[in-house]
Amino acid sequence: MATYDLVVIGTGPGGYVCAVRASQLGMKVAVVEKNATLGGTCLNVGCMPSKALLHASEMFEEAGHSFAKMGISVPAPKLELPAMMNFKQQGIDGNVKGVEFLMKKNKVDVLKGTGKILGTGKVEVSADGKSQLIETKNIVIATGSDIARLKGIEIDEKRIVSSTGALSLDKVPGKLLIVGAGVIGLELGSVWHRLGAEVVVVEFLDRILPGMDGEIAKQFQRILEKQGFAFKLGAKVTAVDTSGKTLKATIEPAAGGAAETLEADVVLVCIGRVPYTDGLGLKEAGVALDPRGRVQIDPHFATSLKGVYAIGDVVAGPMLAHKAEDEGVAVAEIIAGQAGHVNYDVIPGVVYTTPEVSSVGKTEEELKQAGVAYTVGKFPFTANGRSKVNQTTDGFVKILADAKTDRVLGVHIIGIEAGEMIHEACVLMEFGGSAEDLARTCHAHPTRSEAVKEAALAVGKRAIHM
Ligand code: FAD
Ligand code: NAI
Repeated sequence: MATYDLVVIGTGPGGYVCAVRASQLGMKVAVVEKNATLGGTCLNVGCMPSKALLHASEMFEEAGHSFAKMGISVPAPKLELPAMMNFKQQGIDGNVKGVEFLMKKNKVDVLKGTGKILGTGKVEVSADGKSQLIETKNIVIATGSDIARLKGIEIDEKRIVSSTGALSLDKVPGKLLIVGAGVIGLELGSVWHRLGAEVVVVEFLDRILPGMDGEIAKQFQRILEKQGFAFKLGAKVTAVDTSGKTLKATIEPAAGGAAETLEADVVLVCIGRVPYTDGLGLKEAGVALDPRGRVQIDPHFATSLKGVYAIGDVVAGPMLAHKAEDEGVAVAEIIAGQAGHVNYDVIPGVVYTTPEVSSVGKTEEELKQAGVAYTVGKFPFTANGRSKVNQTTDGFVKILADAKTDRVLGVHIIGIEAGEMIHEACVLMEFGGSAEDLARTCHAHPTRSEAVKEAALAVGKRAIHM
């Protein structure tokens, strides 16, 4: 029987990163993966394929709409969707191979099959009707999440799709109806809208992107509407009639009232994700779940069963790849007797649309609710030189600082490359820095990041270019 120091179940960003770190710390490690390829949701049907299509569709949009004003005359671009899907697949394959390489380089054994926990130190791995028992000192559950479903609406991944189907449509839908104005709806809605689909987004709440700063979300909605998105807020889809050539969706106001029918070629259901624990045998093994079906852990990632830990989407917290990765590193260090730690106050979030939206720390709504006195510094990209010359001036930077201490509590950016710009705020916040610290840090000219410095200056009411 094979014996290990650590067996990690699941090879998404949480699982494979945990395995690498544990191996660096001298442990004998194996990963268990039930999918044909390593990398989990993120690499196969999540972050990476969506970003490949976002990039390719953005280039398509640029070639069609932005080149002419810069004096670049090209014929109208022609979409070759199979080739674009091939571009996406090459990206997936490259990254999956990268994880395989990392497993080999770090001498991590890859056990293909479904992992089931039989008790402390015992994992059964089953594939093709055969199973083997693995002994291990420690187990990390990193089994991720699955799509949330809408009652009575069956996802066939052809006409009624989840994000997985929406990443592989074989033609551009004439009309795409999206249920849920969250991250997936707006990212994948952007992909298909750029490629020619008419997009309507139905959202239960009265705003898009719940959880993001309200002012940023409002401006983002206006920008998306200018691009051609239509939103039906405060509404829900209660049924989809699939009997005809086009789908007929029943939309009801969230607060109750008369229903209306909307026709669509494809309906994308993206109303969140749920923890995935199927087949793990948690109940029998005595691993407790919380009321929302997530594996319950203590502050050191330990579950209710000795020697069993859990990380990533399957536990509480934002369902983000980098959060899973950081937890993977932390739990490996804890198992090795070190002080692994994740700072949940500084986990950035990015929506990879055009413009991008990024955020770290508290929103204005959260500070108000907590009764924290704060100051706000804002700076628009219309006043940023680089954005002006590139003629990409949508958006602004917003910095929230403690009114008494000036310590930065939250940074929110909407604008081109916002996803790259957020990290100086993350570093600043990790070091407990103030708006003054940021305002006195020299920023290269001409960059969009100068808008971050100016927003920090604006906290002290002394922005230069505004
Ligand atoms: P997962 O990546 O879900 O991996 C879990 C793995 O465990 C899977 O490979 C699964 O097959 C395996 N597994 C499950 N049960 C068993 C078992 N019993 N035995 C063996 N193997 C098992 N996050 C970002 O930060 N940025 C993004 O841009 C982003 N884009 C996204 C786009 C989409 C369309 C989606 C759906 C998600 C996106 N996410 C993004 C979220 C991100 O994918 C997840 O937060 C991340 O993958 C979670 O990592 P994980 O390791 O916890 O789990
Ligand atoms: P989400 O939680 O971001 O958004 C779901 C939206 O659906 C919410 O606005 C919610 O109010 C709405 N909703 C819920 N029930 C509804 C109903 N019945 N009718 C209408 N609207 C309804 O979830 P989403 O977009 O599915 O993404 C899942 C997760 O994947 C995200 O939470 C995120 O963690 C991760 N992700 C991250 C990305 C990134 O970091 N760029 C990209 C894509 C996904």
